[in-house]
Amino acid sequence: MTFKRTLVTTALPYANGPVHIGHLAGVYVPADIYVRYLRLKGEDVMFVGGSDEHGVPITIRARREGVTPQDVVDRYHKLIKDSFAEFGISFDVYSRTTSKTHAKMASDFFRTLYDKGEFIEKTSEQYYDPEAKTFLADRYIVGECPHCHSQGAYGDQCEKCGTSLSPTELINPQSAISGSKPIMKPTTHWYLPLDKHEGWLREWILEQHKEWRSNVYGQCKSWLDLGLQPRAVSRDLDWGIPVPVEGAEGKVLYVWFDAPIGYISNTKELCEQQPERFGQWQTWWKDQSTRLIHFIGKDNIVFHCIVFPAMLKAEGSYILPDNVPSNEFLNLEGDKISTSRNWAVWLHEYLRDFPDKQDVLRYVLTANAPETKDNDFTWRDFQARNNNELVAIYGNFVNRALVLTKKYFEGKVPACGQLTDYDRQTMAEFADVKTKVEQYLNNFRFRDAQKEAMNLARIGNKYLADTEPWKLAKTDMARVATILNLSLQIAANTAIAFEPFLPFSSKKLRAMLNMDSFSWNDLGRIDILPANRELGEVQLLFEKIDDAEIDKQMQRLADIKEQNKLNAYKPAEIKAPTTIDDFDKMDIRVGRVLECQKVPKADKLLQFKIDDGMGGRTILSGIAQSYPEPEKLVGMQVLFIANFPPRTLRGIESQGMIFSAVDADGKLVLVQPSREVRNGVQVG
Ligand code: MF3
Ligand code: ZN
Repeated sequence: MTFKRTLVTTALPYANGPVHIGHLAGVYVPADIYVRYLRLKGEDVMFVGGSDEHGVPITIRARREGVTPQDVVDRYHKLIKDSFAEFGISFDVYSRTTSKTHAKMASDFFRTLYDKGEFIEKTSEQYYDPEAKTFLADRYIVGECPHCHSQGAYGDQCEKCGTSLSPTELINPQSAISGSKPIMKPTTHWYLPLDKHEGWLREWILEQHKEWRSNVYGQCKSWLDLGLQPRAVSRDLDWGIPVPVEGAEGKVLYVWFDAPIGYISNTKELCEQQPERFGQWQTWWKDQSTRLIHFIGKDNIVFHCIVFPAMLKAEGSYILPDNVPSNEFLNLEGDKISTSRNWAVWLHEYLRDFPDKQDVLRYVLTANAPETKDNDFTWRDFQARNNNELVAIYGNFVNRALVLTKKYFEGKVPACGQLTDYDRQTMAEFADVKTKVEQYLNNFRFRDAQKEAMNLARIGNKYLADTEPWKLAKTDMARVATILNLSLQIAANTAIAFEPFLPFSSKKLRAMLNMDSFSWNDLGRIDILPANRELGEVQLLFEKIDDAEIDKQMQRLADIKEQNKLNAYKPAEIKAPTTIDDFDKMDIRVGRVLECQKVPKADKLLQFKIDDGMGGRTILSGIAQSYPEPEKLVGMQVLFIANFPPRTLRGIESQGMIFSAVDADGKLVLVQPSREVRNGVQVG
């Protein structure tokens, strides 16, 4: 099949929080690279994004914050849209599923399927919160996961083990709204009978799309092998697009029914705004010569490969996706990224902390893209890739080539003279760069493609190091001219090859090389820059990132970890029963700290001199790590056990035990009486 145009969609993020590096690495960066590449090749392409503004995640957040769902989506739609734009994600349209266009599109879509008899209508018993007087769809119900038995699994999914669930599978279900135990109540909904679609889905995916990524293909196969079930496409909620059927008051379209239709609505909105450029929306969705590509994360596979295609097929006039490139997950410093635990690097915060470093993050996320397995983002790796690759290889090469040209040839591209064998060998090394990058990109292998671009810079760097033009400048200016000509040609190649990946840096480099017009087809050529071309001003392409900046980010993460530990604290179980007789045997007293110091060569021990009202005593306590400045404890009253037999530790006799509470983070905190008392009084 030959296609005439490509429609690229990216999963619509829920407008209930900012986007983080996991979203970027999984979906938006690869999609943007792909689209920029197609545009560079002069292909007809449209890049559609937008916010997913319905569904329970939104209403839960609104409820928690005491604002309306509309407030929530307005806030996050703007934040997400702006940060994507600043990051260089080059959407042609970024609209929202609360738009009028979308309400009509989704409503009409449902109605068409309804009128064609593509749904089944079913009444069943569902969980209902009698206190909040509402049905508990999806994330409104929480409980124990029947698979991994972790607590806090949702009615639609367990986030711990990733299993899709239905509310009735949860053990000990609870309302997420009121915490109350739900009751069962009958309700009527419309279902898309996926089982009816199983036959063609099997043939279409398993036979005709063996080229899909193995993680995508594999997940589809296991869904299909398990057998498909009818899926409800409506919900009892008051936030969403009303079900356009008489007698369906209080019912809205299920968010996973309306959201993917958002791709269509946003296309329509764009076409209506720019008809001369994009034509009619139907061309993008109903013409068999359009190639539809969905970029998504792995938790969205079933919706984009099975449910949405079944909807499109049931409607009858739409094309189906040609590919659904989906990534695995990106972790952060070894832990799963989590919005609720604030374990993420948020895009808007990155842009605030590293303004003008969009390309660094783009580079690192692509270099570490979780294409075939989960991968890890670490700040140290971020720093190393910036300093050792972008700065030391790419930036350094470009800078040397330009500065030497300024120095020896007044900033004009010198003419290329006689080529040596080594020159020819160098040229041969990148002659096929275009074919390679294209092959990788056509197969959605972004990491490998970016490596090829970086390889150009490596070749250039090595060429300069080997030929040492700065040494030849005294003796053989003609040779220097050839070397710098070739180096600048390699730099021009690098600018083109990196254009889809690092658009900000390529733009800078093109300005330095004065390449106002350029073509993807030039890639691999050594006559891109004509002799005598005046070069632009030399700027640094990348800057070193120092330890202090990275330490700041690491500290932020350490603080969050600490906070999470405290938030997750649960008091220990109560010990076995005891009696007042046991307690009475303990002689607990108050005393004042007279002296306090670290015990040499013991990292945990502090040595206290305590005024016990009876001449004083020495006590050792293992709290040194919680009190790095022990002298500050002098003067404080503490509690201690006075009748423990003495013990000798490190040659010091300890006469008792001082009381501390163990805080949730493991820190030891000395216990004090609430006002001054006589030293030596008893506690009971
Ligand atoms: N909002 C969903 C998520 O974040 C993705 C929706 S993709 C769409 O998982 F196709 F439904 F729009
Ligand atoms: Zn689970």
